[in-house]
Amino acid sequence: MIDLRSDTVTKPTEAMRRAMAEAEVGDDVYGEDPTVNRLQERAAEIFEKEAAIFVPTGSMGNQIAVKLHTRPGTEVVIEERGHIFNFEMAAMAAVSGTLARPVHSRDGTGILNWDEIEPAIHVGGAYYVAPTGLVALENSHNLAGGTVYRSARIEEICHRAHAMGLPVHLDGARIFNASAAVNESVAALARPADSVMFCLSKALGAPVGSMLLGSREFIDEARRWRKVLGGGMRQAGVLAAAGLVALEETPKRLHEDHANARRLAEGLAEIPGIKIDPEQVVTNIVLFDVSETGITADEICARLKEQKVLASGFGSSIRMVTHYDVTSADIEVALREMRKAVGSRQ
Ligand SMILES: Cc1ncc(COP(=O)(O)O)c(C=O)c1O
Repeated sequence: MIDLRSDTVTKPTEAMRRAMAEAEVGDDVYGEDPTVNRLQERAAEIFEKEAAIFVPTGSMGNQIAVKLHTRPGTEVVIEERGHIFNFEMAAMAAVSGTLARPVHSRDGTGILNWDEIEPAIHVGGAYYVAPTGLVALENSHNLAGGTVYRSARIEEICHRAHAMGLPVHLDGARIFNASAAVNESVAALARPADSVMFCLSKALGAPVGSMLLGSREFIDEARRWRKVLGGGMRQAGVLAAAGLVALEETPKRLHEDHANARRLAEGLAEIPGIKIDPEQVVTNIVLFDVSETGITADEICARLKEQKVLASGFGSSIRMVTHYDVTSADIEVALREMRKAVGSRQ
């Protein structure tokens, strides 16, 4: 199988498995797991934040951040395809009592500018309009096709939000991909934000886990909410050990996934009926429209699956994601099967 559904499907490397088997562990609910503590300290150091906490999933990290930054009855301003809004089970309503205030990205990239965000913000207006509690950004932006913010844009948004008394949370599930694409450190991308979440379990390749980072006070409170949500794990060092390997080893090879994604996009762009601009593919996510092939995305995915290529259908689009278990030869196979699936002789 060539599994291009997501970068979450990676299997742990030999080095990760070895580290897991040899991990020194303790009870992390007591704060006594040395490997978890080491991962948290290392992540905080890399991101230049005061503190970090290991959480089982990116969704939990994001939702703890929403909980801590907001009050019930407030709104979270977020791009309309944002993961926190669309794929986290309305947790912002269920857990935090907040509503999403979705913002349309005029150029379609999902990368917002302050002029698009500002009209969605309610601060100090009429008493019967729900006030804004938080601005949430996503870097890279999953459903927009792995598009990226540079630090200058994040700085501007954070500066303007802070001037209005609003915190900013960064959903950086794939922030290391963004960092590789724009050639800026994750610390530079995260610096202006009040909190950032990143996933060890996506492009970095660890089997489980995400990190939430912020001030020491914020992370102390996050630890309480992690427990509320059932995320207090015991000898979690076996997971954190793989996370440490992922954090140290994987970022330096992400450009290979990006090159594979670009090659895939270029090949797809040559297939009649497929709409994609390869120039827009700057990380490991390749999102393309298949409506003009006359075949539904689900049907194309089913045909690909018969040929041992897995992809995800989203409405009239298909998403393919590169990762370390996909080689450049696999990309050529995927392209060949794609041509066959849509009946192209090219
Ligand atoms: C941008 C983004 N944020 C958050 C998440 C949530 O991560 P998890 O699946 O670990 O809950 C995902 C998962 O796909 C994601 O793509």
